Amino acid sequence: MKVLAVTGGAQGIGRAIALRFAREGYAVSIADPAEDAGREMLDKLREAGVKAVFEPANIAEADQVARWVERTTAELGCPDVLVNNAGIARGKPFLELAPEDFDAVIGVNLRGTFLCSQAVARAMVGQGKGGAIVNIASTRAFMSEAGTEAYTASKGGIVALTHGMAISLGGYGIRVNCISPGWIETSDWQFSARSRTPRHSDRDRLQHPVGRVGSPEDVAEACLFLVQAGFMTGQNITLDGGMTVKMIYEE
Ligand SMILES: NC(=O)c1ccc[n+]([C@@H]2O[C@H](COP(=O)([O-])OP(=O)(O)OC[C@H]3O[C@@H](n4cnc5c(N)ncnc54)[C@H](O)[C@@H]3O)[C@@H](O)[C@H]2O)c1
Repeated sequence: MKVLAVTGGAQGIGRAIALRFAREGYAVSIADPAEDAGREMLDKLREAGVKAVFEPANIAEADQVARWVERTTAELGCPDVLVNNAGIARGKPFLELAPEDFDAVIGVNLRGTFLCSQAVARAMVGQGKGGAIVNIASTRAFMSEAGTEAYTASKGGIVALTHGMAISLGGYGIRVNCISPGWIETSDWQFSARSRTPRHSDRDRLQHPVGRVGSPEDVAEACLFLVQAGFMTGQNITLDGGMTVKMIYEE
């Protein structure tokens, strides 16, 4: 049985990734500080007969990451796939952005991706097996709205970390790739008490050449593709319904 380790797998895109890999026969291990949502996911997975672990961990903390990876390896086996999905955003006007806010976002998004990748890669190498790492960046690694510097910097860092790790880990049979999603609607993929039905205007839909906003399942499918694409490493896939290739002329 193959094992998926996914950060932030209790809700949103991570929830869809966990459920999609479970359908492919993977055991699933989730690290997420949202205990209510994590326990709900654990029940959902176990009711479906999936072997699963939930660790209420903050991925910015090295000791919590180490505990999660050790527990996963002990209870399910060494991960075959790591998806670094967890991320936070704190939009603030640049002139008011406090160093603590900047560090908090970089801490979860970039440092967390580094810590989890290193801990899982060490386990993979220790067991003499290869594997696949998929990082979730964002189209905001390449383009911005005002007041999003911490988030965009963290996502740009993830894209660079992806090709760096692909080179360092290639000799161990570990491939590392990255997905940059655009607008993904997650409001119906939250903890049940917070979940709500999404509503989009025609304007929302029509700014995407594919005519719709993205879903967490779109990202989960791309993760599966990258895990199966044995000749691909160090790459970034933009997954945004074409939004970032559309020219905008003011009339
Ligand atoms: N939703 C979008 O439009 C979109 C677009 C581009 C990129 N992304 C990226 O996709 C990823 C998932 O986003 P989402 O929209 O599903 O978010 P979400 O807020 O719906 O879910 C994120 C999950 O991560 C968990 N999390 C938060 N901090 C954590 C930490 N320190 N350690 C471990 N888990 C933590 C949360 O508890 C939550 O369960 C993020 O990296 C985000 O930046 C999202």
